[in-house]
Amino acid sequence: MPDKKVIAVVGATGAQGGGLVRAILSQPSSGFAARAITRDVNSEKAKELAKLGAEVVAADVDDMESLKRAFHGAHGAYCVTFFWAHFSPEKEIAEATAMAQATKHAGLKHVIWSTLEDTRKWVPLSDNRMPTLMGQYKVPHFDAKGEADQVFRDLKLPVTFLLTSFYWDNFIYFGMGPKKGPDGKLALTLPMGDKKLPGIAAEDIGKCAFGIFKRDGEFIGKTVGIAGEHLTGTEMAAALSRALGQQVRYNDVPPDVYRGFGFPGAEDLGNMFQFKRDFERYFCGARSLEFSRSVNPSLQTFDQWLAQNKSGIPLES
Ligand SMILES: NC(=O)c1ccc[n+]([C@@H]2O[C@H](COP(=O)([O-])OP(=O)(O)OC[C@H]3O[C@@H](n4cnc5c(N)ncnc54)[C@H](OP(=O)(O)O)[C@@H]3O)[C@@H](O)[C@H]2O)c1
Repeated sequence: MPDKKVIAVVGATGAQGGGLVRAILSQPSSGFAARAITRDVNSEKAKELAKLGAEVVAADVDDMESLKRAFHGAHGAYCVTFFWAHFSPEKEIAEATAMAQATKHAGLKHVIWSTLEDTRKWVPLSDNRMPTLMGQYKVPHFDAKGEADQVFRDLKLPVTFLLTSFYWDNFIYFGMGPKKGPDGKLALTLPMGDKKLPGIAAEDIGKCAFGIFKRDGEFIGKTVGIAGEHLTGTEMAAALSRALGQQVRYNDVPPDVYRGFGFPGAEDLGNMFQFKRDFERYFCGARSLEFSRSVNPSLQTFDQWLAQNKSGIPLES
């Protein structure tokens, strides 16, 4: 396929990158080809992507030479970092920096950087509405990504900054789904008050990214945001009730309570939800449903995602 534009996809065996690889492979006549980057070309997930038709190559974002090889000869790259693998904002910035430098070295024509807001622009460290975490962050896994935007800018890369949204898949894989309370009834616990949370089917992030690559240079140098729907906790609980056939109550808790839940990352996520709650108008406005649908016409609503995925939601106590 020498005449096809190769998109090198970091995190290809994961949620965002996997969606992009599958989106590219689902349109063989699009003129694009997928290069899946993984640390282990022999894993089941990597082999699955190869079977679907992806070129699978080995690289580790901690190994610059391997990244350079993985990006070599490609048209574009999808860059994503792995905060939850190590919980370190500094390491996340280092990952982003390595990817940016490697894309520069390869002379790529279009880079999509999967980023999020540096919340400190809205909530400076001196603002005590939420605690400062790890010494210099408000929402570490947001702030690190937002801070890394500058690395892509400084290198003058042909980059699209892609603001992603909360995956509804977190209700399956991230322990955020409805839980049974002592009364045996299901409740969805989020500190969002009556504000809307932009959410998306994780698979749709890759489809949107592919739509952006297909629009050629139109979004280079721009920040674009994507979401499948903007829904309140009450609306999500109602949709979950309909899908699961049993009542799910929205349990609105203060961010302070959420921060105190004690699971790894609870403080980071408590601050994240508070940011989304307190800056709802900005945060939803930055994630236009119309734009998302324009680059991905099959964008799923929460109801559609639930119809496909409800059986995967664990309903333990
Ligand atoms: N959960 C959400 O709602 C949400 C929303 C917006 C943004 N995010 C952000 O999404 C990011 C994670 O993306 P994701 O959900 O697509 O990830 P994921 O599903 O956890 O998969 C990440 C993939 O990256 C690869 N990987 C991990 N460390 C690597 C390394 N050192 N070098 C090369 N590849 C590596 C792994 O592949 P191999 O094992 O095959 O190498 C893994 O399959 C996080 O930074 C998170 O903050 C999450």
